[in-house]
Amino acid sequence: MSMKLLHVNFMLMAVKMPVFAALVLICSQPSWASNPERGRALYENQCESCHAEWAHARTNRKAKSLADLRLRAAAWSTHGGLDWNSEEVNDVVEYLNVHFYHFK
Ligand code: HEC
Repeated sequence: MSMKLLHVNFMLMAVKMPVFAALVLICSQPSWASNPERGRALYENQCESCHAEWAHARTNRKAKSLADLRLRAAAWSTHGGLDWNSEEVNDVVEYLNVHFYHFK
């Protein structure tokens, strides 16, 4: 890669990093906190017909962390053609975590 391209790359990073940092900050504000009650409603309507307790409470359950749980919930939303946005996924993850997983 030429020096010029490298330079452009660094410039782009310098622009992107603060934007990313700001987004992380905004999304971690308590006022944007997830809503487990909405998560419960979404889960009960769209997911519970296939499973509830057995999937999340079994001893060999697959979700091993909050991030893992989020990935799996998002994948199931895609699989079911629901295409939840990240807020909806977060709400369901919050609900599942409060009731079954208790990840920190
Ligand atoms: C078509 C039936 C079906 C639907 C609908 C469904 N699931 Fe599942 N889900 C399963 C099955 C079966 C498993 C267990 C798969 C495995 O063991 O790999 C599972 C596993 C999971 C797990 C992992 C549980 C663990 O082991 O920790 C999560 C999280 C999950 N589902 C979330 C959801 C969410 C959220 C929805 C609603 C968007 C949903 N599922 C809808 C069938 C379904």
